[in-house]
Amino acid sequence: MSEGTDRPRVAILPEHTKVSSGTEVQEKLILAARVFSDLLKPTFGPRGLDKMLYKTDGTTAVTNDGAKIVAELLVRHPAAKMMVSMAESQEEQCGDGVTTTMLICGSLLIEANNLLRKGIHPLTLVEGYSLSLEAARAQADADSVEPDAQKISAVSETALRGKGAESALNHFSTIIVEALETVLQHNGEPRAENVCMFKLGTGSLRDSKLVKGFTFRRRVQLDDLPNNLKDARIACLDGDLKIRELTRDVELKISNSDHLDSFIDAESERKDEICQSIIDSGALAILCSGEIDRDILHHLSDKGILAIGDLDSSEIRNAADSIGARIVESTMDIEPDDLGRCGLISWERRQESDSVEDIIRIEGCLSPTVVTIEIGGAGEAGTEEVIRGLHDSLRATSLAMQESVLPGAGAIHARMAQAVRDSSDAQGGRERLAMEAYARALETIPATLAENGGGDPLDRVLELRASARDGSEPIGISPEGKAWAVDGVWHPASVIANSLESATETAIGMLRIDQVISSRGD
Ligand SMILES: Nc1ncnc2c1ncn2[C@@H]1O[C@H](COP(=O)(O)OP(=O)(O)OP(=O)(O)O)[C@@H](O)[C@H]1O
Ligand SMILES: [Mg+2]
Repeated sequence: MSEGTDRPRVAILPEHTKVSSGTEVQEKLILAARVFSDLLKPTFGPRGLDKMLYKTDGTTAVTNDGAKIVAELLVRHPAAKMMVSMAESQEEQCGDGVTTTMLICGSLLIEANNLLRKGIHPLTLVEGYSLSLEAARAQADADSVEPDAQKISAVSETALRGKGAESALNHFSTIIVEALETVLQHNGEPRAENVCMFKLGTGSLRDSKLVKGFTFRRRVQLDDLPNNLKDARIACLDGDLKIRELTRDVELKISNSDHLDSFIDAESERKDEICQSIIDSGALAILCSGEIDRDILHHLSDKGILAIGDLDSSEIRNAADSIGARIVESTMDIEPDDLGRCGLISWERRQESDSVEDIIRIEGCLSPTVVTIEIGGAGEAGTEEVIRGLHDSLRATSLAMQESVLPGAGAIHARMAQAVRDSSDAQGGRERLAMEAYARALETIPATLAENGGGDPLDRVLELRASARDGSEPIGISPEGKAWAVDGVWHPASVIANSLESATETAIGMLRIDQVISSRGD
């Protein structure tokens, strides 16, 4: 049999599968990256604008936070998905710098595309980008300084800038630093997770304050439960405050009224025992995760003990950590040692608001490992954005308390770009072109800051390049888009290093792809 054209083709993939190779692959990936960075560019920096996100379920969010924007987008392009997971990892590890990471990764890919078109092999780019990362990292290490108190509060202001809290920036940075210092003092580590947020729903941002304790919302079930208990010892119970219910249906045959009475008496005796064990422990208040029996509630109220139920497990844990209590499983187990202590426990009912829940505040704790920031302000969307900013700021400040810091405002990126250029001089091969491209990609940061501030990106980048070559003090971009000796804009070193590493790794990962096999056919 001759080998003719009529030999049947071997079909490995379904018919509608589309296989793209060569430059088409890179263009596809790079286009997705460009769409993403174009989307985030206007939100970047102190003069960044916000995005309004409107979801299919009708909820809206107004935000400037890179992580929030990325999380809300229904991304389906595989390359865009790689960028989404990069953004998520930056958010998870550092809490801040998501937009920076996306912009650098986008620029690395756009620069790569230009070189690929000139016929440079993707692996040469990978090699050049890896060398550049080393050089940039070394410059960041050399420029990092140990922070003093002023720099730590500058870190917290920098991370919060552009997130709707401009009117109370230094008010919040004082609160954040104090919150983390309190947690550090009693927990040994300035953990941002140990700082809770509570939306007051009234007043202005300047009414926000730090509570050395825990604030939450729950309905206080009786109006005459005690309030404003000073120097109170508090018990925390994980369970119901009632007598145990029978798990099986039981039919009781009562032949005379004495039987009924003794049955009721036995029940109320057991309730009394529960109350007595709480009273004996010396607690002035009890918080529990389950229901509270009405009789027990009345009894405790008569004895001047405040009881609040239906807390969820994280609330019980946070309350216990702030007052230093041990959570018990049953009231019968309560020992005086299990109780925590606070300066004041109070509840506030706001008649004017239609909320059915009261604000319960446990404050003045002596050694809280959990503290709460109460955030003033009435608008829901605005407060949510401030909370996102506070989260970024708490994470960044916590890192700054544990490591060194780097100047922001594009200064460190301009200096890293210069370091990459300097080390590219030593390269004789084509990697040098990739390193020059990497340096240009780093300059996207000052260029975007200049553009959003209303300055000319090209002129400013050239100015920064000249000053970075002189190796003098860090020059960055002012909020107005001018070249500026950076003052009061600092980032933790790991936010910068992590962002650069993730952006480079993601770009390299995409450059290594040589074929896209799409079973969707696109
Ligand atoms: N006062 C300032 N003047 C100049 N630049 C500033 C100032 N404050 C912050 N910046 C710069 O703005 C950039 C941060 O902008 P932004 O917070 O929008 O993005 P991000 O931190 O990368 O991402 P995200 O906060 O969305 O996770 C940093 O480069 C920072 O140095
Ligand atoms: Mg930020």
